[in-house]
This record gives sequence, structure tokens and C-alpha cells, in this order.
Amino acid sequence: MPESKFVIIDGNEVDYRAGETVLQAARRAEIEIPTLCHDDRVTPAGACRICLVEVEGQGLMQPACHFQSSPGMVVRTDTPRVARNRQFITSIHLADTIADREIAEDNNPSQVHELAERYGTAGDWTAVDSPRQGRPHDDNPFVEFRPDRCIACSLCTRYCDEVEAVSAITLAHRGAFTTISTADGRALTNTTCELCGGCIDVCPTGAMTEKQALAYGKPERELEKVRTTCNFCGVGCQIDLNVDRSANRVVKVTSPPPGTTVNDGNLCVKGRFANDFIEHPDRLDTPLVRGKDGQLHPASWDDALDRVVEGLQGVAERHGDDSLCFISSSRCTVEENYLMQKMARAAFRTHNVHQCAAT
Ligand code: SF4
Ligand code: SF4
Ligand code: FES
Repeated sequence: MPESKFVIIDGNEVDYRAGETVLQAARRAEIEIPTLCHDDRVTPAGACRICLVEVEGQGLMQPACHFQSSPGMVVRTDTPRVARNRQFITSIHLADTIADREIAEDNNPSQVHELAERYGTAGDWTAVDSPRQGRPHDDNPFVEFRPDRCIACSLCTRYCDEVEAVSAITLAHRGAFTTISTADGRALTNTTCELCGGCIDVCPTGAMTEKQALAYGKPERELEKVRTTCNFCGVGCQIDLNVDRSANRVVKVTSPPPGTTVNDGNLCVKGRFANDFIEHPDRLDTPLVRGKDGQLHPASWDDALDRVVEGLQGVAERHGDDSLCFISSSRCTVEENYLMQKMARAAFRTHNVHQCAAT
């Protein structure tokens, strides 16, 4: 008899690929299984237990994020036992973090609270007085770790190990004392940390959060996301500007979900945190043209561009077309780079064109 290529999830035959987990097969079939400690970019840890499902022949429920699919396996994700587990697990995690959603979501959204609301979790378990230690003297400018919100799911450390590949943070201590630490509890700036902010992005509770946005004081749910392309280099990472419309300010940058854009949910320190230049008072927001007095004066774009053309044409007339050279940047779009070489060749009759990515 030929080997089955299907698992049966909630009565549906679901095709799966070699090595896929139950969660991966279910998601392709659009069968929802909640997760907290899972991210497709890192090795599953089976830490949070929210994704437990029933698997025929297994006495205990199994974590869908970790359990491999096998031929003919029968999985159930919508039984009373599974539903009870989801309520129980969200209760436990609520007791181990800040129970009040308004307070818990003072900056980043909390997936624990979102799931608790979805499953009607009462949230009446006695809060655990967590002995988890933080790093109050970590004076790095960007990443804040708040131990009272951490559920020790280890997603941040796995991201730091496996995606960023710097292992700056680690699980430390045991049992209720388990926390996220660094070597000798040093500040992130004294470790291998590259301040990519990925640990903030994957954290399901807001325990890892952005210092600057926290100081601004408006939760992410009150900000509007505006998708754009990062302009710090030529990779073309997609970023979401989180905008406070009432103040017309960019409060922070988040990355679009993994698997949806070219950067797969990852950003570097510049893309994620270096956005305060937008409000900098020295930033030029109008062209400046040098007057007869030798000083720079604000000008219209038409006047400024006329002056540029006049200067370039003057050099070409006096010294020949090849006395000009046009240098473009990988920070510009492909279209802008194309137009730069087109202008050099068609308007100024020179092939002296270069772009920094060519070196
Ligand atoms: S900011 Fe990036 S490199 Fe630093 S600890 Fe977080 S994930 Fe690791
Ligand atoms: S800081 Fe966040 S991502 Fe890291 S272990 Fe705690 S809850 Fe999980
Ligand atoms: S998502 Fe499967 S155990 Fe956490």
C-alpha cells in the first residue's frame, strides 16, 4: 500500500511536506492553532504549551509547533480538552505577567492578553509575585527588559542565537527565577548585541520593549502603521512607521510580519531605531542656493534645479562633456538610479556614471 502523504486535521486531509510539523501543515490548510513561543525563523522550543492538540494514539496532548507530521496521523484542534488547555495556559501566563491589559500594553501589544480575550479566560488566578531579575543598570539606549512581564518563552534568546547569530542574551537561573540575562548581567552595549531590536519584535508580552517609544507614552494600538522602504542602504527592507497622527510624529519603527516582505521581519539597528533625524531641527526641508553675498538662502525647487543645470552646462562647455561625472547611490530606488544614468548619457552626453554599490 502506498504511503499516505496526508495528516488528518479536524477531519480534513492535509497534504504535508517532509519534516513539517503539525503546526506548519495546519497553517497551510488555514486551520488556526494559537502560538506564543513559536516563530518560523527559529527552532521550536515547545515552551509555552498554548498550541497543544490531540493526536490519536498519544495519551498526552502534543505541541503542534514541535510535533512532526507523519503519514495518516489524526489530529484534533477543536475538542473540549484542547479548549480547556487554551484557557488554562492563558490563565497561567496572565498570572505571570501584568494582568491588566491596558497597563500591559503601555507600548507593544500583548499576545497573551489577545489570546486570553479570545478564549474567554477569566484572569482570576492569583498573580505570581515573580522573583525574576531584570537589568536595571543596562543603559543601552534602545532595548528595555521588564522582568515582571516575561513568561520565559525563550523566543527572544532563540531569535538572538539563530537569526541575529550573536547570542547576546540568554536564559539564566532556574524555575521561578528564570530570566533573560547577559554575560555577567552586563549592559547590552557591553555584549555582542547589535541592537537589532529583533528580541522586541518577537516578544509576545511586551517584556522586551523600545525605550524611546516607552518614554513617548503612547501605546502601539493608538499609532497608525505606514508601510515604507528603509532608506539607510540598498537592501530595500520594508518597515512600518508607527505614526502619532495627532502630533504628526513618527514614534517608532516596527517590521512587517515575517514571511511577508523581503526582510522577513528582520531589521538592523539603523532601520529600527535611527528615526529621530526625521524631527531634527538641522534637517533641510527646502533647497538652499548660495547668493551673491556668499550665504545660503532658501529657494524654490525650480530655482535650485535651474542653478544646477546652469553650473553643469557651464563646466561641459568650458571643459568638454567628459569633464562631468555623475555618482548615484544605493540608497536611491532602482528607478532613480536608472534616471540618473539616463540623464548623464542623454542630456549631458557622457558615460561617466557610477553608483556606490558597484565598488
Ligand atoms: S537587540 Fe538583537 S542582538 Fe541585541 S539582544 Fe536583542 S536580538 Fe540580540
Ligand atoms: S522577554 Fe519576551 S520573548 Fe523573551 S522570554 Fe520573556 S516573554 Fe519570551
Ligand atoms: S507555540 Fe507551541 S509550545 Fe509555544
